[in-house]
Amino acid sequence: MLRIENLNKSFGEKQVLKDINLDINKGEIVMITGESGVGKTTLIRCLCGLENYDSGRVEYLNDDKGNGDNSIGLVSQSFDLFPHFNVMKNITYPLMKVKNNKKTEAINKAKDLVGFLGLNGLEDNYAYQLSGGQKQRVAIARALAMEPNYICFDEPTSALDYKLRDNVGQLIKTVASRGMGVIVITHDREFANKYANRIFELGA
Ligand SMILES: Nc1ncnc2c1ncn2[C@@H]1O[C@H](COP(=O)(O)OP(=O)(O)O)[C@@H](O)[C@H]1O
Ligand SMILES: [Mg+2]
Repeated sequence: MLRIENLNKSFGEKQVLKDINLDINKGEIVMITGESGVGKTTLIRCLCGLENYDSGRVEYLNDDKGNGDNSIGLVSQSFDLFPHFNVMKNITYPLMKVKNNKKTEAINKAKDLVGFLGLNGLEDNYAYQLSGGQKQRVAIARALAMEPNYICFDEPTSALDYKLRDNVGQLIKTVASRGMGVIVITHDREFANKYANRIFELGA
């Protein structure tokens, strides 16, 4: 379980996160809603170690089998693909660089995920040759390749048309059903009601 306890974060004089308490279980989909500027992105950046917080704790509690589970991935709102790498290398590069996978191993994992996310035929494309939805799926593939215990999505439906929204919803459900804890920031009430196990209203 991922436990957030009394988390506080300010930028200068401005307190953005105030005593945030939230648990996320593995296999669960928690959606974070709240007005623009309330600190949603800052919260998940704190969870992912991309931002320091001022006080409080982010703890990874072991499951009942005693397995430590402390890895977390992020699919950012702008996807942050490596612009100078093609689709395959966007997925394989972190596997080799961070996880020390051998090239063939990384390529095999990437091929599986390309298939899973319906990116077949786009392996050699660069980011500028992909649609918004395709870029997002590459970012998701890249995050899933690292096999994190938790994964955060920052507004995954904001760049997508209505039809693709449900594809992302189904994908999130599939990811959670495989045992990952999923944290999703969304403005979309209907999407949250449809796919969340729990909704956390920030700044309420
Ligand atoms: N690196 C930063 N430095 C200064 N202020 C920031 C920084 N990142 C975010 N903020 C401010 O913190 C507040 C919350 O931002 P953010 O977490 O992006 O909100 P949300 O995702 O809910 O729209 C905003 O007022 C924003 O301007
Ligand atoms: Mg945001």
